[in-house]
Amino acid sequence: LGEELAGRAGIALENARLFGEATRAVSARDNLLSVTSHELRTPVTSLKLQLQMARRQLKAGKVEPAALERSLDISIKQVDRLNSLIEDLLNFSSVSAGKMRYHFARNDVAAIVSETLERHAESARIGKTPMKQTGLASLEAEVDPLRFGQVVENLVTNALKYGAGGPVELELREAGLDFTLRVRDQGIGIAPDKLNTVFERYERVGPTQGISGFGLGLYVSRAFVQAHGGTITVESTPGKGSCFTVKMPLRQGLA
Ligand SMILES: Nc1ncnc2c1ncn2[C@@H]1O[C@H](COP(=O)(O)OP(=O)(O)O)[C@@H](O)[C@H]1O
Ligand SMILES: [Mg+2]
Repeated sequence: LGEELAGRAGIALENARLFGEATRAVSARDNLLSVTSHELRTPVTSLKLQLQMARRQLKAGKVEPAALERSLDISIKQVDRLNSLIEDLLNFSSVSAGKMRYHFARNDVAAIVSETLERHAESARIGKTPMKQTGLASLEAEVDPLRFGQVVENLVTNALKYGAGGPVELELREAGLDFTLRVRDQGIGIAPDKLNTVFERYERVGPTQGISGFGLGLYVSRAFVQAHGGTITVESTPGKGSCFTVKMPLRQGLA
């Protein structure tokens, strides 16, 4: 009888644990849905406003090129914002479902870095943020170009979002059997006790109000880098800036 009771108590405890887990999962999902809708609606609202303004100008027959250009610049920025939010969500859902597939091949990682910078040249110009690439101008490494590109993309977007308009530098180096990519900004920085937190999912630290994001980019980036057998770390001084370092092997399957 003692065993029987212990068994039932065990089942009751297990049920309570499962119920607790399910409740937490539901509330995490509800929270994610509400944050997601809010984040996505903000750029859509702004985009619609800009398009209505452009439409009104046309209709009134007084197109002011400077005002129109400004509207279009803002519109492009909002579409970029939406795109990067959607990208974060898609990547996050694949990574957390364990469904991400990697295709490693020899690639010029310096070229992937410069392509990413070129994609952001327009928003850097609008925000008057100087961006430069230093170190190796060409470097062959065995990476998944899409995933490595998304890591660079997220680090550059973060440097632009949290970099307070200061210069952004991307530095590529060879280091023995590895290569390193450092992304430096001179922005708001990260408090010492939050340096590890930023890689956790949904975690946004410091003053992020008004800056779009889900807090998923670094979580996904870390998963991508680890799938390459690499590491991602950060050093930062609040108010002075941050430096993210990605270190990945030049060849896969040697470790
Ligand atoms: N370059 C940076 N400077 C200062 N803080 C940063 C920087 N990059 C990331 N962070 C902090 O880490 C958090 C997580 O980054 P990330 O996962 O890319 O999420 P998101 O960009 O969507 O907010 C950010 O919300 C921000 O608080
Ligand atoms: Mg980000």
